[in-house]
Order: sequence, then structure tokens, then C-alpha cells
Amino acid sequence: MAPAAARSLLLLLCLAVAATAGVLQARAQPDSIGFISIDCGLPGTASYVDDATKLAYVPDAAFIDAGTNHNISAEYMTPTLSKRYHNVRSFPDGVRNCYTLRSIVAGLKYLLRATFKYGNYDNLARPPIFDLYIGVNFWTMVNVTDAGSAIILEAIVLVPDDFVQVCLVNTGSGTPFISGLDLRPLKSTLYPQANATQGLVLYARLNFGPTNSTAIIRYPEDPHDRVWIPWVNTAAWNSVSTTLRVEDIADDDMFEVPTKVLQTAVTPRNASGNIEFSWDPEPQPKDPTPGYVANMHFSELELLPGNAARQFYVNLNGKPWYPKPYKPMYLISDTIYNSNPGRGFPHYNISINATANSTLPPMINAVEVFSVIPTTKVGTDSQDVSAITAIKAKYGVKKNWMGDPCVPKTLAWEGLTCSYAISSPPRITSLNLSFSGLNGDISSSFANLKAVQYIDLSHNNLAGSVPDSLSQLSSLTVLDLTGNKLSGSIPSGLLKRVQDGSLNLRYGDNPNLCTNGKSCQATKTKSKLAIYIAVPVVLVVVIVSVAVLLLCFCRRKKQGPTSNSVKPQNETTVSHAPAPSAGGGSYPQSSLQLENRRFTYKELEMITDSFQRVLGRGGFGYVYDGFLEDGTQVAVKLRSDSSNQGVKEFLAEAQTLTKIHHKNLVSMIGYCKDGDYMALVYEYMSEGSLQEHISGNGRNTGFLSWRQRLRIAMESAQGLEYLHKGCSPPLIHRDVKAANILLNAKLEAKIADFGLTKAYRDDDTHMSTNTLVGTLGYVDPEYHATMQPTTKSDVYSFGVVLLELVTGRPAILRDPEPTSLIQWARQRLARGNIEGVADPRMRGDHDVNSVWKAADVALKCTAQASAHRPTMTEVVAQLQECLELEEARASGGDASGGYYAGGGPYSGYNAYAADGQSTDVSQTSTGFEVEHNFERVPTMPTGPAAR
Ligand SMILES: *[C@@H]1O[C@H](CO)[C@@H](O)[C@H](O)[C@H]1NC(C)=O
Ligand SMILES: *[C@@H]1O[C@H](CO)[C@@H](O)[C@H](O)[C@H]1NC(C)=O
Ligand SMILES: *[C@@H]1O[C@H](CO)[C@@H](O)[C@H](O)[C@H]1NC(C)=O
Ligand SMILES: *[C@@H]1O[C@H](CO)[C@@H](O)[C@H](O)[C@H]1NC(C)=O
Ligand SMILES: *[C@@H]1O[C@H](CO)[C@@H](O)[C@H](O)[C@H]1NC(C)=O
Repeated sequence: MAPAAARSLLLLLCLAVAATAGVLQARAQPDSIGFISIDCGLPGTASYVDDATKLAYVPDAAFIDAGTNHNISAEYMTPTLSKRYHNVRSFPDGVRNCYTLRSIVAGLKYLLRATFKYGNYDNLARPPIFDLYIGVNFWTMVNVTDAGSAIILEAIVLVPDDFVQVCLVNTGSGTPFISGLDLRPLKSTLYPQANATQGLVLYARLNFGPTNSTAIIRYPEDPHDRVWIPWVNTAAWNSVSTTLRVEDIADDDMFEVPTKVLQTAVTPRNASGNIEFSWDPEPQPKDPTPGYVANMHFSELELLPGNAARQFYVNLNGKPWYPKPYKPMYLISDTIYNSNPGRGFPHYNISINATANSTLPPMINAVEVFSVIPTTKVGTDSQDVSAITAIKAKYGVKKNWMGDPCVPKTLAWEGLTCSYAISSPPRITSLNLSFSGLNGDISSSFANLKAVQYIDLSHNNLAGSVPDSLSQLSSLTVLDLTGNKLSGSIPSGLLKRVQDGSLNLRYGDNPNLCTNGKSCQATKTKSKLAIYIAVPVVLVVVIVSVAVLLLCFCRRKKQGPTSNSVKPQNETTVSHAPAPSAGGGSYPQSSLQLENRRFTYKELEMITDSFQRVLGRGGFGYVYDGFLEDGTQVAVKLRSDSSNQGVKEFLAEAQTLTKIHHKNLVSMIGYCKDGDYMALVYEYMSEGSLQEHISGNGRNTGFLSWRQRLRIAMESAQGLEYLHKGCSPPLIHRDVKAANILLNAKLEAKIADFGLTKAYRDDDTHMSTNTLVGTLGYVDPEYHATMQPTTKSDVYSFGVVLLELVTGRPAILRDPEPTSLIQWARQRLARGNIEGVADPRMRGDHDVNSVWKAADVALKCTAQASAHRPTMTEVVAQLQECLELEEARASGGDASGGYYAGGGPYSGYNAYAADGQSTDVSQTSTGFEVEHNFERVPTMPTGPAAR
């Protein structure tokens, strides 16, 4: 009786693990081109298409759970007013209110744009002043000076997490509100001045000499949807233009100015004059002397005769800004920019003058000016943030739970205590949710607050059982569950912690909880367990650990139709064969009944028509095509009799296959152990291996679409997740590779070849450290170094398979010399070059964000240190998001494919351009260094750059 009970306990543990896996929140996602375009305060759930850009704007409800919607007052509702400004969301409550934009790629650069039009929506005629933050870093003050004009603020920042928050902070000068919020992804090579510690805040982005002086250029002419404001000053400048295409200077141009912007330029009206413009610094309360960077974009638009030359100097405040004469290139874009912000000038006067021997006047095509902001403040540990965010969502906690949980200290979430170390992100150390009206069960997310010492959930309405995962919180010293409606028993892990004195567990006043001696009103299915648990604690602990040591056990899944069609003929089990050792130490004998058929060699001959058709060759012999009596097609793997080496692995595989049942693992129909002959009979996978599909060799010539690839990745990941999580102890496949992922007629993926699969026990000191197994290109470097495989070794190999799916390339590239695919992809992705990585055979027919995300997951899986790799459960969740992104695109929800002419009026846009004239300001310009798009040579730290 005791072992049986112990096993059902184990089964419950297995199920508990499985239940936490792969839960996904349906939240608003970026669209197929990675854009998020939000109309704040738009009621309802319907999105609409913007007239000018043909981009779809969505309501904001999915991005924020606070604030109220208002229409602007009728007097400001002019006929041409962009729909985005018709309504606002305002935040009368709470100091900080934040929008959360999810499903973005950690470590990439993003353009964020927030718009504000007050329009007297509150009938108070009192425009507010408030602060805007990107996550925990100050972005800018929003000073709404009049009700009628729109304020458009833009920042370019590197986002460290896979989400970013934009927060409005009430500074006591009126109620914050917002009209619109946009997010646009940028390659990491763009805007080199934006990096992990420095963000850019747009001051002006101007297009000189446009042919239509009122037409703003943005998406789709600018694929990044930057907004280029026309700047025409006919009194001072002549316009020049071309209809020819202006090319980027290089594939990885750092600015990617749209050709339409570069096709126009200005020259001084007076041919011997200079081009002059200027800006004044805008001090902020938090930064009285902001630093500025400028990007000046040039391209020669006229084909110059041999004796003509256009050469000029670019000066700032009368001193050379760029140290040499500059000569724009014909129809090629180039940019002069400074990396180190210039600071402390009362004015910034730019003057562009021709060199003495230039025959043509100076010119300029476009300019961007930014102030810089530090982005050095770090938010709370991201794992803590995900956990507490999930807890907030599950219980609908309101309080002041907005923005970062711990930062700044003054706005830390009510009920949380955080630790603030100097060198690492803040951690959540205590959580008090007592008397908070919590309903439902205890979230598994509590167990992800890895640094928490104190959890108080007392006096709520929590029901269900107490999760044992809480016992894994090594810092947890107090867990107060008093006064809830919890049921079941206190799990063994927690009891152990109580026994060894490391945990103070309070669980009084939970009438349905079974505790020492108390009887239990558990449901019928749980009664056996409950009775068992009622015996003294020490005994439970002992039996559980014995059970863990002895049993190798997997969660059962529904059987496929193939196994139902075969009746067992022979009750003999393979576990009577000598226990294998090389493949898995020694597998304990399974007490499970085998449902597999045993074949004789003669039967196999009949099934395969005397081994006529070879499907492939596995590690231990050929695989043949065959048909059972009832017509079911099967694959028969016959152990090659030429060598004895495979016997152990062969038996190991047979043993493993009898225990595992999952739709994404190849299932075994039967086996043969007939004298020296050994064979395994599997379900038939008509589409062969993933490797054949990726290489384009083999039977299959059609290329897999991105969606098919994602499904295959997802299904393979689920198969591995089952081995890792659904089996106790976890099974490690040890030879995950594209050749071991098989596809059936419906292109459903199943993991095959369990010859090297091994049970993994944390506490097993006898883990054999004999031979390194696996396949070149897929082997985890840490396993290689330690000879100790873990589930993370499979994660590593899976990451390589995922990269193969993204790139369509093999694990080891041979051209020109052997390189690992990981290294190849990592280098390109680091430069933001997703196009250069994605399989060209997909012909760009895929959601870019989805491919980015998948590539990102692959890189995380292949992290050098196994601790940095995700678990298969996390991989499954991430791939699910990739699939959703791709499916959203495939279902054709927006206008990403089409191109539309004309920029359209951008109502209410403040052109912040000032046609300043030069004045003589004597100011040294050291420290205002300039670089050049054309050359990547770093400049000297003390003076202007040399070309
Ligand atoms: C807001 O703008 C107005 C008008 O430009 C200015 O007078 C005021 O000082 C500004 N407020 C702050 C706090 O900077
Ligand atoms: C970001 O750029 C600034 C200015 O060039 C530089 O001082 C800083 O070190 C850079 N930060 C990183 C992380 O590269
Ligand atoms: C143009 O600028 C350069 C560099 O600042 C300066 O040396 C030169 O005198 C200027 N030439 C004219 C004609 O203004
Ligand atoms: C013009 O003069 C500059 C130096 O001022 C020199 O670098 C350049 O080569 C000259 N260009 C021509 C076309 O003579
Ligand atoms: C210039 O652009 C505006 C706004 O897009 C448009 O209404 C107007 O028709 C354009 N004019 C010409 C001459 O193309």
C-alpha cells in the first residue's frame, strides 16, 4: 500500500508541474511589422486605420488598467483634426500610471512617440504639467501650455527587457493625460548614439527643401515611421531636388534616411553665402544643461561636370564642427554626426560654408537634433517583475501597483519590501497581501519570487491546495496562510522546511486544510492521498524520497490510434532483458505494464517485405518501411548485427519508449528480441526528418513556411518539455538535432531516437561520466566541459535546431571554413541584421518580429552558461508568442503590404524648426566631437574627429 500511495503522490507532483507549464496571457501585441500604434482613451475594442499612414490604431485598454476616457471639448474638435486627438485618457488617481508594451525584443532599440492634445477635455481650462518616464528613467517634462496645440514627444532608447513601460507621473501641477502612444522597432545598428546607458530625445527632425512644402514624410516612405518635417525658407535658400533614387551608403547604414527625404536639399540663395540655422537648448528641471547630438544628412543631387566641385565646412558657433572640407557623394547618403553630446552652449549655431576652391555653394538635405538622457537607472530584477506582474493580474490587485515594483523607492508598490544592492537590480524581499480580498488558488508565480523572505497571504479567500513549489524558495522564512479556505494537505516539501526549522509556516483557520491528526473533507479522488498524508510526517518524507529514488515515471498522455490498433500478443517485457548501463546508468525496472507488441523476426520479414525499402539509417542500423496486417504503415529499426555496440542503447531506447507517451514523441508500436535480432517498430513518419526539409535534400523538396517552422519548433519543444517536466526523474534526450525530429503527413513534429536518453537525478552521485555523447554542432559546451548532462544540455541542442529553422542552414557551416551556426547567427544578430539571418527561401514572407523573437529564443537557449538558458517550459511559452505574432500577420489584419502615396496632413503638429540666423558667439567647441557615417574610426577623445 505504501509504495502505491507514494506513486500517486508522485503522479500528483508530476501533474502539478505540468499544470504550470505554458500558460499564456492574451495581450495586445505589436502588429506584423512590429509597430504598436495606440489611440489613448479610444473607447471600445475596435481599431481603425489612420488616413495618412494606413497604419491601424488600437484602443489602449489592453495596455493599461487605470485612468478614464474623455473626449476633448467640442470647440477643439476641428474637421481636419486627426482622430487620434479626439479623445484622451487621463489619470486623476495615483502618482504614477504606466502603459505596458509587451512582446518586444529585449536589447533592441525602439522609437517611442507620445502625443498630447489637451483640448480642454476636463472643462477646467487648466493645461497640466507632468513628467514622463520610460520605465524607471526620466524621459521629459510635459508642459502643456495651451489647449489647442498638440505636443509630440519622441525618444529612441535601447530596451533591456521584452517589455517597456511609459509612465506619466503627477508632479502636483495638474492631472496627467495622453492622446497617443507609438512604438517602432529600430535595428540595433541605427542611431549609434543611443546605447544601453544613453537615450535620445528628439528636438527636431527636418527635411530641407521638399518639393511640397507642406507634406510631412513618415510611414510608409520611412519604414521606421519617423516624422520628417518640411523646412522651406525661400528668403534664405534655394531648393534642389532629384527624382533619382538616393542609395544608403552601406547595407548597415546607421541612419537609413528615406530616399524621399534625401531627394531634396537646399543651397544658400546667395551663391557665395552660407547655410545657417540654430537651436537653443531647452533646460529641464532635472537637467539644466542638456547635451545635444546632431545628425546632418547629405547627398549630392546634381551630376557635376569634371571641373566643378562642391566642398564645404560645417561649423558650430563659428568653430569647425567637422574638421575637414566635406564633399557630398552623388546619390549616396552620408551623415555627419557627433557621439559625445555638446553641452553648456547658450545657443547652437550651425553654419555651412564653401571651401575656397569649391565652385558650388554648400548644401544640406536633412538634419536631426536630439538631447540625450541617461538610461542608467535599473528596474527591479526582471524575473521578480514577471512574477509580481502575474500575481497582480491573477488577483486584480490595484493599490498603487503601477510601473516598476521597487523603483523609485518613493513609488515602490504598497505591501512590497525590496532590497537595493549597488551592483545588481533591486529584488522583492517581502510581500504582504493580507486582507486584500484575494480569490482563487495560490498562484504558482509566488514561487518565482526567488529572493522573497516573507509572504503574508493571511485573511483572504484563497482556496485550493498549497503549492509545494513554495518550498523551493530558499530565502523564504515566513509563510502566513492563516484565515483562508485552503484545502488538501501541507505538501511534503514545505513540511520538510518546517521540520528543519528553516520556515515558519502559519496555516491556522483554514477549515478544510488537512493537518496533523485532523481529518479531511477532500474530494473522493484525493481521499487515498489524503489518508496517506495523515500518517506521521517523518514517514511521508522517507517514503517520498525512496519513491523518488526508485521510480522512473512519466505522466501518461492519451494514446494515439496506432497503439490501439495493435493488440498485445505476448506479455513478456523488455525489462527482462539485461539492464542497460551505458545508455542510462541502470534503469530501474518499471512496474508499468507494457502495452507494446512483441514481434518475431519472421513477422518483421513479412511486415517489411524482406526488408525491401530503406527509409533511412539511424545510429544503430537501417530503418525499413513496412505494413502491419491491418495496413498500418510502420517504420522498423533493425539493429545492425555487424556490431555489438548498440545493444545497450537499443535496449535503453526500448525501455524509454515504453514509459513515455506524448503526441510529440515518436511512439513505439512494438519491438523484436528474437535471438540476436533486435528491432523496434515505430509509427510511420511519412515526411521524414526535419533535417531533410531544412537542407532541401531527400524526398521533400517543398520549403517550409515560417508558420510551419514555428509549429515544428513548438511541437518539438513540447516533446522535450514532457521529457524534462512530465517525467520523474527528468529524462535527458542527449541527442536533440534536426535529424532526430521526424514529421508525419500533417507535418506534425515528433522527437525520435531515444538511444542516448538518460534519467537525470539531482542527487545522483553515480551519474556516469563516461563518454560524451551527442552530435557535433549540437553539444552543450558546459556538458562537454563537465561531462555532466542536464536538461539544459537538451535546451542548448534545441536552440541549434531553432536556429536551423530560422536560417535554413546546417548546425555547422562549411563555407569557407567550419563555423558553428550559433556563432554565425550571433554575429549578424548583434548587428541587428535579421534579414541577413532569416532563411532567404522564405522570401521575406514572415512576420519580422516573430523571426526576431525566435532567433532571440535560440540565442538564449545556446547561452554558454546553462544557468542563463531558459527551461523548455519557457521556450514553449516564447514560441507560442512567436506563433501568435505570425498567425496574426498571416490572417492579414492590417495594411503592411501595401504602399500608399502622400504623407497627408499631420494635424496639429508643432513644427519646432526655427529659422535662426547666425550670430557671433565666441565659445570653444571642444568636446563637441563629430563622426562620419562613412568611417567608423573612433574619434580622439579631446578634439574634433580627423577624417
Ligand atoms: C511651461 O511653459 C510656459 C510657457 O512656455 C513657461 O512659462 C513655464 O515656465 C513652463 N513651466 C515649467 C515648469 O517649465
Ligand atoms: C553610450 O554612449 C555614451 C556617449 O558616447 C558613452 O559615454 C557611454 O559609455 C556609452 N555606453 C555604453 C554602454 O556603451
Ligand atoms: C569657412 O569655415 C572655415 C572653418 O570654420 C573657416 O576657416 C573659413 O574662414 C570660413 N570661410 C568663409 C568664407 O567663411
Ligand atoms: C580644395 O582644397 C582642399 C583644402 O582646402 C583640398 O583638401 C581639396 O583637395 C581641394 N579640392 C580641389 C578639388 O582642389
Ligand atoms: C502637398 O501636400 C499636401 C499635404 O499632403 C497636399 O494636400 C497637397 O495637395 C500637396 N500639394 C501638391 C502640389 O502636391
